[in-house]
Amino acid sequence: MRIIRSIKAMSKAVRAGRLQGKTIGFVPTMGSLHRGHLSLIRRCRRENDTAVVSIFVNPAQFGRGEDFKKYPRPLQRDASLCRKEGVDILFCPAAAEMYPRGYKTYVEVENLSGLLCGAWRPGHFRGVATVVTKLFNIVPADIAYFGQKDAQQAVIIKRMSSDLNFPTKIKVLPTAREKDGLALSSRNIYLSRQERHDAPVLREALHLGRNLIKSGLRDTGKIISRISALIKKKKSAKIDYIAITHPGTLAPLKKIKGACLIALAVRIGKARLIDNIIVKFK
Ligand code: PAJ
Repeated sequence: MRIIRSIKAMSKAVRAGRLQGKTIGFVPTMGSLHRGHLSLIRRCRRENDTAVVSIFVNPAQFGRGEDFKKYPRPLQRDASLCRKEGVDILFCPAAAEMYPRGYKTYVEVENLSGLLCGAWRPGHFRGVATVVTKLFNIVPADIAYFGQKDAQQAVIIKRMSSDLNFPTKIKVLPTAREKDGLALSSRNIYLSRQERHDAPVLREALHLGRNLIKSGLRDTGKIISRISALIKKKKSAKIDYIAITHPGTLAPLKKIKGACLIALAVRIGKARLIDNIIVKFK
């Protein structure tokens, strides 16, 4: 596995692969890799001649007072995990090269960026869309892999990719979970023992929502109150939002008429956790 830090060397490596007719798969991450990331990396490895993973803790997507500084950065461990998975290139650019002095260009995916998590983390999705645009230009892959865990991010990247005519195909893969249902996240390490014990309530709440819909409840206000009441039983939990939306447009729904996305963000202690479920009708 090659570890590449410079943007120029990365672009050159991808071009060389392309000239040999190799297909390129790409998994952008912020590192601190867990089984969720690894599920994307494995799929990428399986489906492409060359597997590229990036690790870059992107300052542009963290707000003031968020955890940019203390975000975990176990690079040695991440590199050995990637090596084990058969990754060809690990790209770890420096922030100073990604955002040099005088940097001025940002990508805004209108409307979608202000909903759900965007309302609580102003500028977050602008930072995500910007860095993913830059990464897609540096690593022009055939397929890029993202997780359903970050449902809004996936919707925004698909929209952006289509609007900006990126040739890269976007694949969104299911959320990897702990045995008790907690979605894997690099931020789970912030949880104390008690908080870790409480955290699966996010998944239980989503299941409650799905079951209420399956049993015929259609009024999203009522469903949200039931979900909210369940989460509030945990003392450590503070709800940022619970939303029921159209899965493609993220538009909030009053009444459920077809497939929907239930998405929520809950702060448990110092960790802000998100999770979601898509409820479909057959
Ligand atoms: P990061 O949080 O490191 O996640 C990298 C990718 O792994 C994302 O596509 C995310 O949705 C996926 N992922 C995270 N947890 C997952 C889980 N439990 N199951 C399946 N997939 C999971 O998301 C980012 O980084 C950044 O915003 C990034 C896209 C790299 C831009 O900076």
